Parts: sequence; structure tokens; C-alpha cells
Amino acid sequence: MPSLVVVGAQWGDEGKGKIVHLLGKNSDVIVRYQGGNNAGHTVVFDGKHFILHLIPSGILEPGKKGVIANGVVVDPAALKEEVAFLETRKIKVKGRLTVSTLAHVILPYHKYLDTIRETGDKSGVIGTTRKGIGPAYSDKVGRTGIRVVDFLEKPVFEELLDQNLTEKEPLLSRVKPISEIRKEIMATYDELRAFLAEYAADTSVQLAKAFESNKRVLFESAQGTMLDVDFGTFPYVTSSNPIAGGACNGSGVGPRHIDEVLGVIKAYTTRVGEGPFPTELFDETGVQLQTVGQEVGATTGRQRRCGWFDAVAVRHAVRVNGISKFALTKLDVLNGVKTIKICVAYDVDGKRVTDFPASRTAQAKAKPIYKNYKGFTGDLRSFKSYAKFPAEARAFVKALEDAIGAKCALVSMGKSRDETLVLDKKFSWLK
Ligand code: IMP
Repeated sequence: MPSLVVVGAQWGDEGKGKIVHLLGKNSDVIVRYQGGNNAGHTVVFDGKHFILHLIPSGILEPGKKGVIANGVVVDPAALKEEVAFLETRKIKVKGRLTVSTLAHVILPYHKYLDTIRETGDKSGVIGTTRKGIGPAYSDKVGRTGIRVVDFLEKPVFEELLDQNLTEKEPLLSRVKPISEIRKEIMATYDELRAFLAEYAADTSVQLAKAFESNKRVLFESAQGTMLDVDFGTFPYVTSSNPIAGGACNGSGVGPRHIDEVLGVIKAYTTRVGEGPFPTELFDETGVQLQTVGQEVGATTGRQRRCGWFDAVAVRHAVRVNGISKFALTKLDVLNGVKTIKICVAYDVDGKRVTDFPASRTAQAKAKPIYKNYKGFTGDLRSFKSYAKFPAEARAFVKALEDAIGAKCALVSMGKSRDETLVLDKKFSWLK
């Protein structure tokens, strides 16, 4: 019953889509356990470019099963669109994808509420994707949410819909009358219900059976540790738990079924949306990382903020996820950068801080303390073995390993999974 959780160790966009696509080859079932269509997993494959928002990227591998587990919030209309998109590109989804009956649904009013908050008082602006993620999770923990199983039972759905619209009317009426929102939802309801009914399943039972029959199960997180609602830069976070522990409650699997955790780490740092970012660069190096790394949000098209590698944040991620191995992405983007920096600690009010601070004031004030490394030149994608990499590139990877306390198992360059070198020959998932 081997299983592996793949997590992002920064602020998301570390390149998990590509890594999961690579590891998907050796998996039987690929599970998304949190988040929703706020995610944008980019995968390049057979010369085609795919951006997946909800469906696990492993689905691109023929014959594999994809699971959208209970911890995910599902926008039925967005899911229908994504399935249609894949099927027009000859990726068969029907019969291979299941959606947990316990997952909560995102409805248009969640998106309206998200936008109301994002366009209101500046102090409450998070820079969300406006996909309704926060409001849907708020309803879940506030116990007014609508699960897939409720969505499928029309009388139950209509009753819950009316309760929710009435409760939220004071805010929603800023957008339009709730009678109109109700009409809008009911206009597509029957079609979406029929669609979702074909995918709905008890995915916890499905996963238990997969473990019993010794299937290889890969858990794919969305976003990253620094966006985790508990361990990220609160309140500038998403509303779920991308950390490895989230795979258990997000999919109905006990901790004894989790064998390994692989962190995905970018050779520098990026972030989309508001919130603290101690190593952010506002100079030409930042522009270079943004341009060469093509750092544009896959879901919203927003430019990603760019900065140096932050070992304080990643050490925090290594600890809260239990990462011992990581896949390093986008090292090739640093080609030609003269001096590469790693932030090893922060200066907060004159004090050296090495553990990521909880205080939002400290996070905002944190000044990075850097160690400098000589840059490298040469297109790393042209080297067929890691041993052939420029010595400076290898020295930088070693410095990253030492700074965060984990081992680099894979070096990923470019967009296609074929442009990946395996450093750790014992990494069980690729055997
Ligand atoms: P939400 O998840 O749409 O509520 O957005 C909350 C925060 O998480 C915002 O800063 C978003 O930019 C960020 N975020 C959400 N999904 C992703 C992602 O897939 N990659 C990077 N940032 C994300």
C-alpha cells in the first residue's frame, strides 16, 4: 500500500503539476485533497499545454484514476468545463474520476461574497482568486455549507439554498436581489446535478479498497505551505490545509497509510496576491526571475511577485510537512545570475530570527539576512547528468539542502516531465 504526498513548500506555484505528472506514471490513483479551482497546475505533455484547476494532474496519464476528495471545494460548473476541456483534447475523464459526496460545493453566491470582500475596505483584501474558496470553506466550518451529496438531492438542496441566500442577503443584495441569484443557480441546477451524479462516490471507501489491493496512491496538494490556513502567513492564506497532514482529513485516510512526503521547492520564491514576502525583489533581478521564469499566475493571469530563496520559510515547511526529500524546480531560471542569494535568517528589530515568526508585525518587518553564492552559466537543460552541471549550480543545491535540512531527490528544469534528473536513485516512487 505505498503512498506519497506531494506538497508545495513555499507560496504555491512551485511546479507541483509537472512533478505529479512525472510521478503519476508510477501511481494507480491520484488524489486532490484540498483547495478548489483556485489552483492552476500547468503540465506540458506531448507538445500540448494543459492547465488543470480541479482535476488531479495525474489524470493526464492514461488508465490512472483521479479522485477529488472530501477536503476539496468543488464548483460544479467549473468541474464540468474542465472535464469538457480534457475530453475535447482526447483525455477520457468519465469512468476515471470520482468526486467525494462529502466535498462541499461552490455556488455563484460564494464568488459574489469573495468579490465583495476583495473590493471592499483595503484592510480586508487578501488578493484571492475570487473563485469563492474562502466563503465556501467558511460555510463548511460554519455548518451551513452544501455538500455534493446534498446537491444531488433536489429538495434538500433547495432548502439549504434558500437558508443560505436568506442568511447572506444583507451582503448579497449589494450585488443583486437574492431572488435573481436563486434563479441564476436553478437555471443550470438540473444539468449540473445530472453531471455531478456521474462522478459522485464515497472516495474514502474507494481509497481503502485501493490500499487493500496494494495500489499506489499519490496525494497531490494545491497551493503551498505558506498559504496554509494554520501554518501560512495568516490572514494572507487560502482557506484550507495544503500541508501533508491535510491529506488525511482531506481524503478520509488514516495517517498509517501515508508512507512518504515529497516537497516541491522552487530555486527562488514567488507569491501571488497580498501578504508578507521578506525576500521580495523590486530590482532588475526580480524582473529577470519574473520574465525568464514566466512567472504569471495560471488561474488569474496575475504577475507573480518574485524574490530570493527563503530558507526560513522553507525550513518551516520542512518541519510542518515532515519533508525529508524534495524536488527542486526552475533551477535553470537562475542561469546567468551573477550572485545567487539564500535567505538564512531574518532580522526583526535587530534580533536574528531563524524560525518563521507567527506575528504579522514581525513578518512584515522581517529583513532577510543573506548568504551569497556564485552564480552559474549554461543551459542546465542541455546536461544529461547532474554530475555534468556547473560546479556552482551543484554548490548552490548543496547550500539549499544544508539550509533547509532536506535532500534533493529530483531536479526539474523546463516544463516537460522529461526534463527532470533523478538524483536520489533510492527514491521509491520512481523505481
Ligand atoms: P484563495 O485561495 O482564492 O482564497 O486566495 C487566497 C490566497 O491564496 C491569495 O493570495 C491567492 O493568490 C493565493 N492562491 C490561491 N491559489 C493559489 C495557487 O494555486 N497558487 C498560488 N497562489 C494561490
